[in-house]
This record gives sequence, C-alpha cells and structure tokens, in this order.
Amino acid sequence: SEHLRKVLCGRAAPYIIVEEEEKMSTKKRRKVIAGNWKMNMTPTEAKELAKGVYEQVKGKKGCDVVVCVPFVDIPAVAQIVKGTIIKLGAQNVHFEEKGAYTGEISANMLKDCGVQYVIVGHSERREYFGETDETVNKRAKAALNAGLTAIICVGEKLWERECGITAEVVSLYDIPEEQMQNVIIAYEPVWAIGTGKTATNEQADEVCGIIRSVVSEKYGKQVAKQLIVQYGGSMNAKNAEGLLAMENIDGGLIGGASLKPADFGVIVSAAQ
Ligand code: PGA
Repeated sequence: SEHLRKVLCGRAAPYIIVEEEEKMSTKKRRKVIAGNWKMNMTPTEAKELAKGVYEQVKGKKGCDVVVCVPFVDIPAVAQIVKGTIIKLGAQNVHFEEKGAYTGEISANMLKDCGVQYVIVGHSERREYFGETDETVNKRAKAALNAGLTAIICVGEKLWERECGITAEVVSLYDIPEEQMQNVIIAYEPVWAIGTGKTATNEQADEVCGIIRSVVSEKYGKQVAKQLIVQYGGSMNAKNAEGLLAMENIDGGLIGGASLKPADFGVIVSAAQ
C-alpha cells in the first residue's frame, strides 16, 4: 500500500525497491487522443464544436482527451470544457517568456487561459513557417518550463531515412530527463496528413517503436517505456481501432476527424 511504501522507502530495503521498479516497467501507458483543429472554427463555431465533442466523449474513461484549438478560440472552448474530461491544448507557443515579439503568444499566456497541452513542430509549421528542429526544441522547452505538456511532432524524414531518425529527435536534444514525463511525441508521416492515406498499422507501429528506442538510448529504458507516442495522419473512425491496438501506438493526433464530433467520439472509444 501507499502507506507501507512511504514507511519502507525511508529504510534500507532494497528488495522492496526492486519490486517497485518492476511494477513501473510493466505499467500500461495511458492513451492520449488529441484533436488538432488547425485553422478552423471562429470562437462562435468553436463553442458549438466543443459542445458536440463533449456530448460524444462524456462518460468515457480510460484515455486522455485533448482539443488543440486556435489561439482566439481558447477562452470560448475553456468555458465549455471546464470540469469535463476534455483538456485544452494550443497549436503553437513562442519560446521567449515575453517582450517585443509582435504576433507571438507565450507559454504563460496559454497557461493562464487554462491550456495544458501544446503542439510544437507540426509539419505544417515546419513547411510553411520555417520551423526547424532548433526552434521546435526551444518552443518545447518553453512549454515544459511553464508546466505544459508538449506534443512534439516528428515527421517523414525519419521514415525516409531509416536511420536518420536521430536528426528529427534532435528536437529533444537538451530536454532534461525529469521533463520527459510531460513530453508526448507524435509520429506524423507527411504523406498521410490530410490525404486520407493512413500508414498501415504495422508501418506506424514500427516507426513509433523506433522513436521509443531512440528515446531509450538517450534517456534509458524507464523513460522510454513510459513515453506516450502518438500516431497522426488521416486517423479516422474506421482505422483508429487497429492503429490504437498496436503495441507502440499510445494515441492519436487527429486533424480532419477531430472536426466531426461523432467520428472523434468513435476514436476516443477505440482508445478505451
Ligand atoms: P489529419 O491531420 O488527421 O487531417 O491527417 C493530422 C495532423 O495534421 O495532425
């Protein structure tokens, strides 16, 4: 029991500690289903969508549900999801704490609005807004330092260049081990995003497994075993169950289907 553990941990009892470690390593990871609304929904529309999502996911337990909404929708959606199982996320964050960075939003601003998760390094940001592993890393650190969970997206390069995976996980490079519990990695093959072409269950699982082993090399087995690795790219109501059943896939980052409450609800059920 917790009480026993507290009492015993204060004493020299190595056999107890070993037992604890074994338990930790076999602990099942929770699943995290995150909707990425992208640049969709005015605040008025966002309220309606958030209500629709709530109707579909209420009462569902066993996985974390997040909606990552446009910045201006945050206050409206925060009102709707408050006190529900739905957690609030943003789609980007600036790396500086404050100052003369016209047009940017800081991690503390997000935090103050009730945001708990933030996507960083989405392939659309890398492609259209010049994001690099270096800026993604800085944004992730700013998010983590503010106490947010960072959903770090890694994309196709690692699939194309079988062994080149370290290049993308560079986004992690000086993130301290103790902050890794607030890191989620989303594997999103670019060719699968918004195209209706999903990676097969096996393809997606394989790359998610490679990501886990790269993290294991850097941070050790325990961190890697607990790391949440999501798949993203045309995940939908039909294919979610198969993908989410795979050993290394701990959830999804969902674009198109997250705008359809009934479909999103089916994906959340599949994750349970
Ligand atoms: P999609 O987008 O589900 O529409 O393919 C996924 C994403 O870009 O996060």
